[in-house]
Amino acid sequence: MQDNQTWSGRFNEPVTELVKRYTASVEFDQRLAIFDIQGSLAHAQMLAACNIINNQDLADIRKGMSQIENEILSGQFEWSVDLEDVHLNIEKRLTALVGDAGKRLHTGRSRNDQVATDVRLFLRHAIDEILHLIASLQLALIELASRHTHTIMPGFTHMQVAQPVSFAHHLMAYFEMLKRDAERMQDTRRRVNRLPLGAAALAGTSYPIKREYVAELLGFEGVCENSLDAVSDRDFAIEFNAAASLLMTHLSRLSEELILWMSPRFGFIDIADRFCTGSSIMPQKKNPDVPELVRGKTGRVTGNLISLLTLMKSQPLAYNKDNQEDKEPLFDTVDTLQMTLRIYADMMGGITVKPEAMRNAALQGYATATDLADYLVKKGLPFRDAHEAVAQAVRFAESKSCDLAELKLEELQQFSNLVTDDIFAILTLEGSLAARNHIGGTAPQQVEAAIARARKYLEGKH
Ligand code: ARG
Repeated sequence: MQDNQTWSGRFNEPVTELVKRYTASVEFDQRLAIFDIQGSLAHAQMLAACNIINNQDLADIRKGMSQIENEILSGQFEWSVDLEDVHLNIEKRLTALVGDAGKRLHTGRSRNDQVATDVRLFLRHAIDEILHLIASLQLALIELASRHTHTIMPGFTHMQVAQPVSFAHHLMAYFEMLKRDAERMQDTRRRVNRLPLGAAALAGTSYPIKREYVAELLGFEGVCENSLDAVSDRDFAIEFNAAASLLMTHLSRLSEELILWMSPRFGFIDIADRFCTGSSIMPQKKNPDVPELVRGKTGRVTGNLISLLTLMKSQPLAYNKDNQEDKEPLFDTVDTLQMTLRIYADMMGGITVKPEAMRNAALQGYATATDLADYLVKKGLPFRDAHEAVAQAVRFAESKSCDLAELKLEELQQFSNLVTDDIFAILTLEGSLAARNHIGGTAPQQVEAAIARARKYLEGKH
């Protein structure tokens, strides 16, 4: 029997080198080491409390694990691909350090419930960091928005100038999206935070264990209530990745806008140099690389979601080795999302706004045409007739290459005799914003109230 393979007693020959590398996960799952140790310490404490191992064994396990943790954190731990995964590497080292107590640790447990526990501990930790990072980005959005409740830009539909909005209002739309993203993460966390340990390989264990005690030690909100389900499903990782994909999708949309706004055709903003790069051939270029990469990496995170869903879809109960493939997509999603959020908060703080360019763009696309129609409606014209009258007026202004506000009173009156000279206040960009004065509207007063609510919401998080 090869002594480096825990299960090898029943085998006639070792696996080939290639199969060993193919089946091993230690190269990537060593990242779970700290959580693996946490889980093992809680498991050992429960085994001792239930008199399944004695207190000396527990003391030895604690001592050994503390040394292993130091070795790992200082980079001295020797990971071996012969030992397949993070669990066997640590267990083997523990046994080398403390002898029989190390061999007793695996009593009443399997790598199947062990790995599910590790992944949940890892993900819970990752989600907490993500929630914190979302809040930082939201704060950066609020800071920028609070300076621009009176900065007017065109709002678009179909990428055509539609109606004027404030830049702050536009930014606060992303605050709302991120708020829902945070809610989704928070909600996912409740289902991540359940203990699989005790399920053992799949059916539970014959030892008199106390699962609730282990759950309490590890800060889980409860135990997984079916052992087969506990070791096999990765739905918690999938729903996390779904929430992450949506979050990235929101950031991808914002990135697309930053890219457009920074192009000279818009010239609405400038992004600080530290987020841009130049071209190796065109000396004049300054490219918005970071937002472009966020857009690109969104595909990668969504790809990870598809990987995880596909990984799960044909697995019969209970644990299958397929599940070992959950880690790389999950780690990649966590890393990509955390890095993106971290950079994004800083990038929003480094945006220079060009209010004149925004204003000029808003003046060009007949953005206040709806205001003219609403004015006529308030004077008694049915909306559909008002719509038609204004369409004619826009056509006329277009033929003269001017804005509605630049037409003479008599010219406007050709389209409706309801127009009087109070119309010019209505046709200004400021008038248009101020008129949308209800919750959710773009009037500066409303957006200021939205920002105040947002600040309060964020304060409640700390
Ligand atoms: N490395 C494995 C994984 O990530 C651990 C569980 C292995 N269990 C087993 N019966 N082979 O899923």
